[in-house]
Amino acid sequence: MTDAELLHYIVTGDPDETKDLFAQARNVRERYYGNAVYFRGLIEFTNYCKNDCFYCGIRAGNKRVERYRLSLERILQCCAMGDMLGYKTFVLQGGEDPFFTDERIVEIVTAVRAAYPDHAITLSIGEKDRGSYEKFFEAGANRYLLRHETANDAHYAKLHPVSMSLAYRKRCLFTLKDIGYQAGAGFMVGTPFQTPHTLLEDLRFLEELKPAMVGIGPFIPAADTPFSAEAQGDIEQTLRMVALSRILLPKALIPATTALGTISSRGRERGLMAGANVVMPNLSPKAARKLYALYDNKICTGDEAAECRLCMEGRIRSFGFVPDMRRGDAAV
Ligand code: SAM
Ligand code: FES
Repeated sequence: MTDAELLHYIVTGDPDETKDLFAQARNVRERYYGNAVYFRGLIEFTNYCKNDCFYCGIRAGNKRVERYRLSLERILQCCAMGDMLGYKTFVLQGGEDPFFTDERIVEIVTAVRAAYPDHAITLSIGEKDRGSYEKFFEAGANRYLLRHETANDAHYAKLHPVSMSLAYRKRCLFTLKDIGYQAGAGFMVGTPFQTPHTLLEDLRFLEELKPAMVGIGPFIPAADTPFSAEAQGDIEQTLRMVALSRILLPKALIPATTALGTISSRGRERGLMAGANVVMPNLSPKAARKLYALYDNKICTGDEAAECRLCMEGRIRSFGFVPDMRRGDAAV
């Protein structure tokens, strides 16, 4: 698609055009993945973070957050619960927590890998140097999620403190791919100062990086952050960005995100209808979920892992999709 065509779809409010766009995205998805929707078990193992991203509820500067860390034993218990429920992918996500040194992350990945030799292990723990990413990979991690957040330098600088840079974040993503990880990029829709042009740049960056995974969700304001009074992202525009990403990267694994489900009760199902093919129900202990508050009113914080698993399955089936508990690597 040309820039003009992409920009048109980024902003269109025309219901017929949108319907066609989503149908096209579903067709592309079906070509490689049929109606399957893969499950990933999400374990939010720390909400400590040394960074201060302006949008994020667990930023270092938010002194009102009650902080927690899961022990290795707790993490393994979450994995055991996930395994019992049929999950073949564990996503270990957290803030950039200095307590979790490379040695500690290697210890965790090694232990999960030893207990589950055939499962996929996904890390989502932010920016590291090449040596660290290599150690985690050697210990058994297969995938890494690191959203680029916005591919426009000036916009990036309005969402992050000066200590962070888009150039480094991009470099991390290329390094991860180079090491052999299935890498996941992505961005929020509706962050302050975002424009149709910055969204176009996000799509062009995805085309350049060709990540195995793409995470897209609406920006949702978080209390006690600099953006707490800003408007949340528009669901329709978020869905159009999911659809455009699917069309540009036909084989990508694209989650229907929790943030989509938070701004609309059928948001995740609509994400699947716009071309997404992954869901990430929560395996974190109940007490941790409320505290891992990246944004306000996050859903599924009161449910047990088994309830989330069943609830998602029902939602998926009700829209004509088929839950698939296999590992679900990216199509080649
Ligand atoms: N620390 C890791 C990292 O930076 O990649 C993983 C955790 S980070 C909190 C996970 C993602 O949450 C971010 O990439 C961001 O896109 C999303 N996020 C943070 N604050 C958000 C908000 N207010 N609304 C929607 N998504 C948000
Ligand atoms: Fe958690 Fe529905 S996915 S309750």
